Amino acid sequence: MPGTIPTIGERFPEIEVVTTKGLLRLPDTYKGKWLVLFSHPADFTPVCTTEFVAFARRYQDFKELNTELLGLSVDSSYSHIKWIEWIKEKVGVDIPFPIIADPVGSVASKLGMLHAQSATHTVRSVFIIDPNGVIRAILYYPAELGRNIDEILRMIKALQISDQYKAAMPANWPNNELIGERVIVPPPTTREGAEERLRQYTCFDWWFCHKEVPSSEAEVARKFLERAAKKQ
Ligand code: BEZ
Repeated sequence: MPGTIPTIGERFPEIEVVTTKGLLRLPDTYKGKWLVLFSHPADFTPVCTTEFVAFARRYQDFKELNTELLGLSVDSSYSHIKWIEWIKEKVGVDIPFPIIADPVGSVASKLGMLHAQSATHTVRSVFIIDPNGVIRAILYYPAELGRNIDEILRMIKALQISDQYKAAMPANWPNNELIGERVIVPPPTTREGAEERLRQYTCFDWWFCHKEVPSSEAEVARKFLERAAKKQ
């Protein structure tokens, strides 16, 4: 049974998990930090190996966004340990974050991560959980498509800006086609509010107003986009 996917806006379910770095309580262990919990279909598989290397290479960028990483697959701790040893030995990359051991798939099932046609393979899911333990974004990718890790970094930065400046983020932020790196002012709730917005902000209309955020914030996200576009 694939299980039910928790919803954006809900508090992440309380679960105790066994990981390659010991027992952790979710979401409380990560209180005060952002968390990217991601599942991969299985250890010792090529696409997953490329994803682990990409996450590890960007670990410092996640840290700078006050963000921790946590992997999961329906495999044992032994398998996770052997696989990360293999990655270190063969491609010279240290995996610095813990991986949840879920040998019978109970955690994966609880989080709706299992593929509908498989009792043992998780899809490539990503849960972005905020410092209060609330699920803020969920991504779902199939086994045959590796994730864009720089996009995950861009999402976290954009969510942080959204919280800090009480704004919504446009498509492709910070390179939006209509408003560039500017951000969208939340909708008004009163007629007076609608009129006030026209005086206070730059607007296409009363329901579409935008404002500036410091360019240094946009630069951080732009760096992720540029790296994603660059040939390695
Ligand atoms: C992979 O990570 O390479 C993979 C895993 C499961 C199915 C297909 C590919």
